[in-house]
Amino acid sequence: MRPEPDCRLCRLCENRTNIVLPSGNLSSQVVFVGEAPGENEDLSGKPFVGKSGKILNAIMEEEGIDRSAVMITNTVKCRPPNNRDPTKEEMGACRPFLDREMSGRKVIVGLGKSACRDLLGYEGKMADIVNTEMSINVLGKDVLFIPTYHPAACIYSRESRDALRTTMRILRDGYLE
Ligand code: URA
Repeated sequence: MRPEPDCRLCRLCENRTNIVLPSGNLSSQVVFVGEAPGENEDLSGKPFVGKSGKILNAIMEEEGIDRSAVMITNTVKCRPPNNRDPTKEEMGACRPFLDREMSGRKVIVGLGKSACRDLLGYEGKMADIVNTEMSINVLGKDVLFIPTYHPAACIYSRESRDALRTTMRILRDGYLE
């Protein structure tokens, strides 16, 4: 189940160029959930192809994970104007698609605050939960959830980058063969 090409379930449809659907290994046991498409993603129709994507690629590569081994998606599939955070209503409208994307996987990785707000209802500091293994209910089944930093948060923060590398190591050693 994916959005119709002319999806109008929320007002993000008003400014989008392309709906950004998941990429990578679509049947991977590991799913990364980012925030929302940015300008490059809106233009290309692919998630994490801009600056954040380059940081994500570099950190994955440093830990020996091929990006094509995981599935990558976002809380919302259309770009919010001026890259503002997606609202609860927008994330709610897109949630049925995200639920289908996450269903039946081994581990969901929440990249940053919006993913954790959407999937955990968490409004606190990322530092308090980063890399703590939790569980979320996806369509009636518990699935392991690992909160971590968004790649954009790693640009100016060594600690965030190290924490995101730790996330990759957890995945490499425990969940990817
Ligand atoms: N940031 C995100 O959260 N998702 C993307 O697809 C690109 C940038």
